[in-house]
Amino acid sequence: MLMYFGTICIFRSIINSQIKFYRTLSNQSKIIKIVEVAPRDGLQNEKKILSSADKIKFIDKLSDTGLKYIEATSFVSAEWIPQLADGFEVMRGINRHEGIIYSALVPNMTGFKKALDCQVDEIAVFGAVSETFCKKNINCSIEDSFKRFTPVIEAAKKANLRVRGYVSCIIGCPYEGPIHPRKSASIISRMLTMGCYEVSLGDTIGSGSPDSWRTLINMCYQEFGIPLSKMAVHCHDISGGAAAIDNIEAALEMGITTIDSSTGGIGGCPYADGIARGNVPTEDVIHKLNQLHLNTGVDVDKVLDAGNFICKILNIQNISRYASLKH
Ligand code: HMG
Ligand code: MG
Repeated sequence: MLMYFGTICIFRSIINSQIKFYRTLSNQSKIIKIVEVAPRDGLQNEKKILSSADKIKFIDKLSDTGLKYIEATSFVSAEWIPQLADGFEVMRGINRHEGIIYSALVPNMTGFKKALDCQVDEIAVFGAVSETFCKKNINCSIEDSFKRFTPVIEAAKKANLRVRGYVSCIIGCPYEGPIHPRKSASIISRMLTMGCYEVSLGDTIGSGSPDSWRTLINMCYQEFGIPLSKMAVHCHDISGGAAAIDNIEAALEMGITTIDSSTGGIGGCPYADGIARGNVPTEDVIHKLNQLHLNTGVDVDKVLDAGNFICKILNIQNISRYASLKH
């Protein structure tokens, strides 16, 4: 009897190691796209306003890490976001590498024209599921935000620029509380129908859990027919990265292949009232993906170097767990 159970255990462990091996092999062929948002989503919410030269140095460092997509700045009102008032100088000053997309966030045609003037590779428009957040972030209702996106997306199409979309508060809002996944899915779907090639699902206040992420992704995919390849996850965090990494892992398991992250975990959302201090650090995302044998082509130690560089200038700590691991 004992021998029988022993044989079963050995057999099981062989099967498990085979499964692990094949999972590793299939993971290795999967490429995960990282959208680096520190120069925009990071710097927009740091108290210290950096010189254009420092921002350019930071982006140039990020360009040497293997990252293929860098959101370099935004073209929004300087009264609302003074930290990024020099978008033009930054965009024109960086050393642009072949094969890297340098994008910028634009809220309206004024921003679009500026972005076009400095030859961005892509633009992103941004809306929200919560009316209150939308009003506080871009000073209009959700319906009016779509009216603003329409000419921007049309003009981008004419200029041969792809448009990414962001939707904030997909799980919770700092003002309205929990958000129903169907409401989020309908806004995400509308953005795609309008012409965004991909929509980033913003957990603006980091209130998501693996379960709420699974429910939302499932709702988008099953009920709204949104392909997984058209959704990206954008996680903010309240606990130094741990919860956001769990949420990202849940999204990866569901088949999501695009992740937004911020080197050094800098920034967050200026209208989330400090609830979600950090963006998920790129260092921790890459480290986790390496552990899962998922391919990014990004050198995590070079990212850490860029993270330490920017945190030193900002006079803050690099909150990534990878930074403390390496310390
Ligand atoms: P408004 O005051 O309603 O705009 O702001 P307006 O059309 O009435 O114009 C007022 C003045 O702003 C005018 O100047 C315009 O020219 C100027 P004046 O004639 O008085 O001298 N203006 C601009 N200037 C520069 N660039 C522009 C621009 N547009 C108008 N693009 C507006 C509306 C959308 C401009 C304002 O609310 C704004 O800039 N908001 C930006 C907010 C922002 O950047 N938030 C952070 C990014 S979103 C985010 O972080 C979330 C995300 O990461 C996902 C997640 O985590 O959830 C994406
Ligand atoms: Mg954000």
